[in-house]
Amino acid sequence: MKRILLIVGGGIAAYKAAELIRLLKKRGHAVRCVLTEAGHHFVTPMTLAALSEDKVYTTLWDLKDEAEMGHIQLSREADLIVVAPATADLLARMAAGLANDLATTLLLATDKPVLAAPAMNVRMWGHVATQRNVVQLRADGVTVMTPDEGAMACGEFGPGRLPEPEAIAAAVEDALAPAVLRLAGRHMLVTAGPTHEPIDPVRYIANRSSGRQGFAIAGALAALGARVTLVAGPVTLATPPGVDRVDVETARQMADAVAAALPADAAIMVAAVADWHVVAASQKMKKGDGTPTFALAENPDILATVAQGPGRPRLVVGFAAETERVVEHALAKRARKQADWIVANDVSGDVMGGDTNTVHLVTAAGVESWDRLAKQVVADRLAQRIADALLGTP
Ligand code: CTP
Repeated sequence: MKRILLIVGGGIAAYKAAELIRLLKKRGHAVRCVLTEAGHHFVTPMTLAALSEDKVYTTLWDLKDEAEMGHIQLSREADLIVVAPATADLLARMAAGLANDLATTLLLATDKPVLAAPAMNVRMWGHVATQRNVVQLRADGVTVMTPDEGAMACGEFGPGRLPEPEAIAAAVEDALAPAVLRLAGRHMLVTAGPTHEPIDPVRYIANRSSGRQGFAIAGALAALGARVTLVAGPVTLATPPGVDRVDVETARQMADAVAAALPADAAIMVAAVADWHVVAASQKMKKGDGTPTFALAENPDILATVAQGPGRPRLVVGFAAETERVVEHALAKRARKQADWIVANDVSGDVMGGDTNTVHLVTAAGVESWDRLAKQVVADRLAQRIADALLGTP
């Protein structure tokens, strides 16, 4: 039995929420409903309460409910939040992160997966603003179903109809399905973060890598059941659950930690490794000594060493952070370093340190360009692709 919080928005299709509740209850789930202000015009709280056999929540300002159960608790108690019908207005407010009624406040406060089943007029669905909001929501990790196509209540024809309750119930089961531990028994080696290259005992050269993409990938691989060794440069991120973390500072330490962590079934080198280190001063450099010049020496190329060395993992994945001619550089990098895949991204904007990433996956089969996605979503997709490559497509 799972607990589903169903947010019913204001559209003609709201009546189908009744059937959805019935189907979810039949599958053994507990359903608790939130009805938006607009939703009231299409379906009554009484109907939803009778079918869900629970109280229906309608307003943020119900002090009695806040005393009994705060809105934060309401959103956290669920295993899944379903928005059906998700109107154009609800999707827009979700994408913008508004919290101006009970439904959107719950959606902003939740830490649970969210599934949205859109329903609206065909032109509203096709409007550039709605499509932009859907792209944003998907990048944020919300599962937005594609509406059905057909005759609409308003007399027009096209995509915008609420998916049938059976299809929404099936999507609910998918969203609730426990992760299949496809990588159980496999060892994944991930590098992440920047490196710090000392200049003297108190100064260092660094780069802007936050480590977030690499940490998300390590977490996604662990969520698929893999044993994950994460060799991390200096970052302030929490270790994802189930990941063994080795902290290092310099590229040379990272190279040693990687060598020590082998063998692995796959190596995913996400770290922004400094190409050079400074031939560092043993004492703090003093201003009075004149303007210093730095002698640089090349760092080991960890990715190339792993890809070309003995005991090569079956799959070696590199990253290529580029500021121009992204795919062209990535193709060259893949050949030069002998990586199986290169995940290329354009870091000329605010990718470094940001939440989203637009990547191109360069493999022997060609180049795949992914939409701008949350780093977490990029990580989940990549982890599934790594599992496909090691085990074959399910
Ligand atoms: N990498 C590595 N060790 C290094 C440098 C890079 O393992 N010393 C890995 C990174 O983790 C990443 C990939 O190589 O997976 C790409 O790194 P990048 O710095 O873009 O490649 P370079 O060979 O340094 O190419 P350039 O600086 O000319 O773009």
